[in-house]
Amino acid sequence: MNYSSEIQIQSESRTRRTRMTQRMRNLVRETELHPSNFILPLFVSDASANFKKEVSSMPGVYQLGIDNILVECEKALESKLGGVILFGITEDKDESGSSAHHDTGIIQLSLRAIKRRFPELLVATDVCLCEYTSHGHCGIVKENSRGEFEIDNDESVEQLVLEALSHAEAGSDLISPSDMMDRRIGAIREALDEHGFENLPIMSYAAKYASGFYGPFREAAGSSPSFGDRKSHQMDPANSDEAMRVIERDIREGADIIMVKPAMSYLDIIRRAKDEFTVPVAAYQVSGEYSMIKAAAANGWLDEERVMMESLVSIKRAGASIILTYFALEAAKHMAQ
Ligand code: PBG
Repeated sequence: MNYSSEIQIQSESRTRRTRMTQRMRNLVRETELHPSNFILPLFVSDASANFKKEVSSMPGVYQLGIDNILVECEKALESKLGGVILFGITEDKDESGSSAHHDTGIIQLSLRAIKRRFPELLVATDVCLCEYTSHGHCGIVKENSRGEFEIDNDESVEQLVLEALSHAEAGSDLISPSDMMDRRIGAIREALDEHGFENLPIMSYAAKYASGFYGPFREAAGSSPSFGDRKSHQMDPANSDEAMRVIERDIREGADIIMVKPAMSYLDIIRRAKDEFTVPVAAYQVSGEYSMIKAAAANGWLDEERVMMESLVSIKRAGASIILTYFALEAAKHMAQ
């Protein structure tokens, strides 16, 4: 062994040097979270303007009427969050989810109210049909030639395009399709461009897995399928190459930001997407991820703040610069301390 390699081994063997004090740890930290990385999901209900109901499986998360949504939006601005994303809750459901694109639908009304009060807040909108269809599926259900029920891709895309356009017209800052139909990004991009929204970006839920971690959300959004599941359009949790194929396709069709969802069980997918593509990567820390931490903390089994921050920094470290999380306000508050 020569002299220089010996020095190197000695120095490498003392990695604790840069961990001994907080000021040194601050100096060498590789990943820093900012409130502007976070997007807060909000469930807006058309039940009444002052409606407020806690989601029992998601402590601290509420279904809110428009007046209460405005209060959350103000907090989001004060906390300097990156923005909010709206999900609609309504009893106005039919087979094709037509209330998703009504001009007086809950999302459209909320967008106008928020934009009037807080024009500087970034408001993203989830584009999907499951909250508006009577059967709770993300698209139009049709009987195929073999007499089986399936989601008709292209008819669903037509509805999704109408929904995206009506969000754009009501003031959405970021169109976020979560339905997982094929070719919806291209169709939405084309329609937006034709109607003068060529500068309105699309965040595609591109790698969205058929996950059990969405369980609490379906209670929150009232969007459980009344029969069947979502495996014909959401991805198999076992696949990673397929995620890259879908992301590449969505970017080609016009996605400006791509999303991986859920986050914590899919950190490898986030990292791969970050390495293989150059568009911004978002990740959705979904309802089940939130509820697990809340439940364990409520039992005294985990330190909530610590695990919350650890889960968020791991998502950013994996490569996501945008994190959709129900912890957004709590995390921002913790970071301001
Ligand atoms: C579909 C949609 C879902 C979520 C966001 N958009 C549910 C689903 O696909 O079943 C899940 C979000 C979460 O679990 O927090 N509109």
